[in-house]
Amino acid sequence: MKLILIGFMASGKTSVSHFLHQKLGLPLLDLDQEIERRTGQTIPKIFATGGEEQFRQIEHQTLSQVAAFPGILATGGGTPLRVDNQQILAATAAPVVLLKASPEVTYARLRRQTGRPLADNLTIDGISQLQEQRQAAYDRCADITINTDDLAVTEIAKQIMPLIHLP
Ligand code: S3P
Repeated sequence: MKLILIGFMASGKTSVSHFLHQKLGLPLLDLDQEIERRTGQTIPKIFATGGEEQFRQIEHQTLSQVAAFPGILATGGGTPLRVDNQQILAATAAPVVLLKASPEVTYARLRRQTGRPLADNLTIDGISQLQEQRQAAYDRCADITINTDDLAVTEIAKQIMPLIHLP
């Protein structure tokens, strides 16, 4: 792995990973998309049939199988929660970048998008509580944290690029 992006839903992982993929020509793996490809089911469908527990199992298995991926990994918002996932991320030696956004900005971004079962009916307070619950796990994984509230994707990428060891 060359770079791992972690962070809450709608923190910017997808946009930033796509930008860096284009800019640097590094391969890109989005863990949620990989889960959908491997299972042949959408994330909402997996949650609807097997619940969050089953999703987390599949997420863990998928992460463990892509640990040697030679590019940028965009994780899901809940990937860093499990200790065994934290160990996988740490073992890659790739820089782990935590993207952060305020509850207000997260709420506004989530309202424009669909396909996230855990974001359905989340209020700004709900987002804030869930972010707080997850913060310790995120911090355990992160080498650096970038607040994305007021930054353009290009500005976020500029902070990340010096951390990546290019071949
Ligand atoms: C989740 C975040 C989602 C996806 C799933 C669960 C979470 O990924 O993995 O819906 O627990 O925060 P994104 O962070 O890409 O939305």
